[in-house]
Amino acid sequence: MTIPEKLPAHVTFIMDGNGRWARSRGKDRIEGHFEGVESVREVMKTSVELGIPYVSFYAFSEENWGRDAAEVNGLMELMYRAMKNELNTFLDNGVRFLVLGNRSRLPDKVNMGIDELQELTKEGKRLTMILFMSYSGQWDIQQAARRMAQAGAEDIAPFLSTAGIPDPDLMIRTSGEQRISNYMLWQLAYAEFVFTPTLWPDFRKQEYLAALEEFASRDRRFGKVK
Ligand code: IPE
Ligand code: IPE
Ligand code: MG
Repeated sequence: MTIPEKLPAHVTFIMDGNGRWARSRGKDRIEGHFEGVESVREVMKTSVELGIPYVSFYAFSEENWGRDAAEVNGLMELMYRAMKNELNTFLDNGVRFLVLGNRSRLPDKVNMGIDELQELTKEGKRLTMILFMSYSGQWDIQQAARRMAQAGAEDIAPFLSTAGIPDPDLMIRTSGEQRISNYMLWQLAYAEFVFTPTLWPDFRKQEYLAALEEFASRDRRFGKVK
């Protein structure tokens, strides 16, 4: 594996295309989500190998609550089971696991699973892995603005759900869609965007390394003149 120079400190993913992946194989949409968990695992392991300290995934948006109950329930059950299954992988790889989003909307069982996994992995030093669940960028800004006003403060960043986490340097969206679908609206201010037609369940190590090469070739200027 050749390691690209200029690695991002925080890579975030809009994991998209699970449903289309399943449908194109004549399978139920949930099978695509199931296969997508393997892609998450591969990206997580590759990030640890490369020494990328933060990786995050948009797993379920506030708008996704509007899908059929069967799909929503299937996703919640899948995430609950994946969290149970991954504990040892996280501990073996030095991963600290975090969930951000409007957790009041999540089922109790899922919330208990999250609390447990966050607690058991809190000493992880190599990689912080964040799952955005029941998240939307507008929700985040709204809840931050409310708490900022209550505190009489003027800077919003410390009140965002991502306080203390560096803003993403790179945002990768799979499945060919070129939009941010109410993801981290504030935090993506200066992220580089990579859009790939690959569907999320097919996004594995080689696709990840290719996106990181693309990132390394970008010229980030942050509004300045070089
Ligand atoms: C992304 O895949 C996963 C979630 C949004 C939960 P989709 O379920 O959006 O798959 P497509 O876009 O319908 O193919
Ligand atoms: C974005 O994917 C949300 C997640 C990946 C969790 P969607 O499939 O929900 O986005 P739209 O509806 O195509 O914009
Ligand atoms: Mg989609």
